[in-house]
Amino acid sequence: MTYLSTDNVENHFHDVVIIGSGGAGMRCALDLADAGHRVAVVTKVLPTRSHTVAAQGGINASLGNVESDHWHWHMYDTVKGSDYLGDQDAIEYMCRAAPRIVRELEHQGVAFSRLDDGTIYQRAFGGQSRKFGDGGQASRTCAAADRTGHAILHTLYQQNLRAGTHFYQEFFALDLITDDDGCHGVMAWDIAHGTYHLFQAKAVILATGGAGRVFKTTTNAHICTGDGGALALAAGLPMEDMEFFQFHPTGIADVGPLITEGVRGEGGYLLNSEGERFMERYAPKDKDLACRDVVSRAIAIEVREGRGCGPNKDYALLKVDHLGADLIMKRLPNIHELALRFAGVDCTKEPIPVQPTMHYTMGGIPTNRDTEVVYSDGENKEAVFSGLFAIGEGACVSVHGANRLGGNSLLEIVVFGHACGVRVQEFLGKQRYHPPLDPDCWKVAVDRVERWFESTKADQGKPKVAHVRDRMQTIMQDCFSVYRTDTVMAEGVQAIEALVDDLGNARMDDACRIFNTDLIEALELENLMALARITAAGAHARTESRGAHARDDYPDRDDEHWQKHTLALINKGKVELDYKPVRTKPMTVDSFPPKKRVY
Ligand code: FUM
Repeated sequence: MTYLSTDNVENHFHDVVIIGSGGAGMRCALDLADAGHRVAVVTKVLPTRSHTVAAQGGINASLGNVESDHWHWHMYDTVKGSDYLGDQDAIEYMCRAAPRIVRELEHQGVAFSRLDDGTIYQRAFGGQSRKFGDGGQASRTCAAADRTGHAILHTLYQQNLRAGTHFYQEFFALDLITDDDGCHGVMAWDIAHGTYHLFQAKAVILATGGAGRVFKTTTNAHICTGDGGALALAAGLPMEDMEFFQFHPTGIADVGPLITEGVRGEGGYLLNSEGERFMERYAPKDKDLACRDVVSRAIAIEVREGRGCGPNKDYALLKVDHLGADLIMKRLPNIHELALRFAGVDCTKEPIPVQPTMHYTMGGIPTNRDTEVVYSDGENKEAVFSGLFAIGEGACVSVHGANRLGGNSLLEIVVFGHACGVRVQEFLGKQRYHPPLDPDCWKVAVDRVERWFESTKADQGKPKVAHVRDRMQTIMQDCFSVYRTDTVMAEGVQAIEALVDDLGNARMDDACRIFNTDLIEALELENLMALARITAAGAHARTESRGAHARDDYPDRDDEHWQKHTLALINKGKVELDYKPVRTKPMTVDSFPPKKRVY
């Protein structure tokens, strides 16, 4: 063990430190704490405020409670949905594990809705089929009304309290402690007390969620700032496929909150200003339950061609009232409340105004199927970075590829949260001691924070954090939205790079050390900016359309040149791009080769 001699850093020793307290971190912590390891969850929010709590529609598993189903059909849908960019070994692993992991959640206490025979309620979601697309629609999404994430997160939190997991809440992770042997801990800032903490650990797990706040309009909470990805980039590690941000077709127009796909699963549908059920034209078979990228593009085209609704003709209408107030209040109570609060619409009587809204980060910190963080070491593009693991939305085990299926995100966090718990236990078996640390290892983190306190003394003319953030979000929204083109993205790349200096010169106002939210916003913006840079560069370079990356100037998928993952690094301040092959070979079954995606 290393005790730092500096007075202003408090030392903590754990077997494992998990950064982030969403479903992935919690599921992993539970395995490790139950196995008797000393586990710390370091989280910038109160655990039950993690963004998993906002997941609505459900979690996919081929339980077959409504009609026959099979994990292999689920795998087929996921590979097809990913537009053939998903890694098929990881997808097979996830879809096979799904029924067991969902039943386990049920036994842990998740209050799923029920079918009349008492089994778990399952609804239809986008892109779900039976018999490899030939057997009609599947109902594969297990739901607790439209508050499934809430039910799962609270259950996992309670289980962790029982298991004795240590929670360090309202701690902001500042810097990973790494050397040539791997990762040994993390420096963090205690938000409430304004103090520095060094967490030494034999294994560190990044479970920090998505980066939706790179964009201006998003279903993501303010906390979704890609913190884990930025920590990895700062440690010299790459990020994978960050050009793939998913636009959910039904965010509430102008404001963003999510209206679950479960609405369409229950029978809701979209209308344009001519009262036409336009999805029949874009996806004759699956209609409103086509994949999200397909539905989002369809709305964008309707708006572009003048058939949008409202005074600015810029949204579609989601019709729900025909389902009846009883069903809405039983299966979709949350969306009833959201529509009322954010759009002033009673959806038992009127349609909800909706627009494609940034929802999910498909890319993330690259990992292998065992959740170990990987990087390029010469020819080896999957070299393991010892002691560092990543799970959940912030990771890229690549089960979603270029486009995620609704209901696969809650699944990913519990399946790979558990897989990580298992893998880390094996790893801990070989790591008996905390390695000695560089005595100066705390300095980068302290400098990172202190420069912001220094900035409070700078002249008032310097750019403010909020101004830089607003600018970044506007650029990303305008230049990297549902449809992208070379000219617009080139402008976006340039504008984002120009903002990097503004952030370097920015000032914060509040010099107080206790609960300084100005400081947290500044640190979050640093994280977001790093991710915006690599998103912009990766998107501009990818000259094809695939999944959520749709280009007007390259409208087709180009498997010959682009069925490969992007790896982006920030090296000496500059963005660098590299690529690695998709893992097209599943674990036990035959590969699904690329085909044209039709719905
Ligand atoms: O529409 C939804 O309920 C979202 C689900 C998901 O993103 O998996």
